[in-house]
Amino acid sequence: VEKYAVIGHPIAHSKSPLIHQAFAAQFGKVISYEKILAPLDGFTETVHRLQAESFLGANVTVPFKFEAFNLCNSLSERAQALEAGAVNTLSFLGEGQIRGDNTDGAGLRRDIENNLGFSIAGKRLLMLGAGGAAQGVLGSLLDAAQIVIANRTPGKALPMVAAIRHSLEASASTFEALDQSFDLVINATSAGLTDSKLPIPDCVFTANTLAYDMMYGRDTPFMQQARTAGAQVADGLGMLVEQAAEAFHSWHGLRPQTAPVIKSFRQF
Ligand code: ATR
Repeated sequence: VEKYAVIGHPIAHSKSPLIHQAFAAQFGKVISYEKILAPLDGFTETVHRLQAESFLGANVTVPFKFEAFNLCNSLSERAQALEAGAVNTLSFLGEGQIRGDNTDGAGLRRDIENNLGFSIAGKRLLMLGAGGAAQGVLGSLLDAAQIVIANRTPGKALPMVAAIRHSLEASASTFEALDQSFDLVINATSAGLTDSKLPIPDCVFTANTLAYDMMYGRDTPFMQQARTAGAQVADGLGMLVEQAAEAFHSWHGLRPQTAPVIKSFRQF
């Protein structure tokens, strides 16, 4: 049986095994997909063990996506194109070779465009956050007309802005200084984990704004504020399932149906 895994720290809460098993079942495939807790200083050893045990691939989650990037012998085009230097999908090829891919941006984009029916091209986009999560998806959003990156520590947004300024109008901001409305607002901060409210003004939202929180499984203060301000609101569950579908495709060459899997998780 083909063996796969997701590696993280923590990992207990991961839905990836359920998602990949649901995808495999759509094609009558039997796979094994384990959750693996790697020690914080033991990611490389964990990957080498999986290779030695004939695993075919692994997903990588917090905090190992950057280390995973550095372990790869080759990278997909989109993983190379990202400034982020992070991968979330490893394929173990013959002779110890590791190929890396990053499916987060494609997953976010597919959820926004295909599932939520919102077209990104030509839109005004506000990205909240400048950490790994924001950097990992920015490369998939460059057909927007304008991107403002707002972060608690505004200096961290500057290199991101510099990296995309050739493709579109881009600028950095503090949360408080935001003074225009946006078509799409993406929360890529981890503030929701601690139920912290971001000091963003209500004027960024209109009735036509899609407010997207990359976090899933909780109604964050960001989502509550956007809803109260009249925006359309989505959490990151669709992105989670779509990034998994992209990983499934790179391992198996098959495109699973995502809608039934998203729906089954919504019921819990
Ligand atoms: P991740 O991989 O989730 O992006 P990260 O790289 O540590 O993790 O980035 C976390 C992001 O959430 C950063 O943009 C961080 O802001 P700073 O760059 O100022 O640290 C943001 N963040 C986390 N907690 C926050 C809070 N309570 N309020 C505002 N921003 C917060």
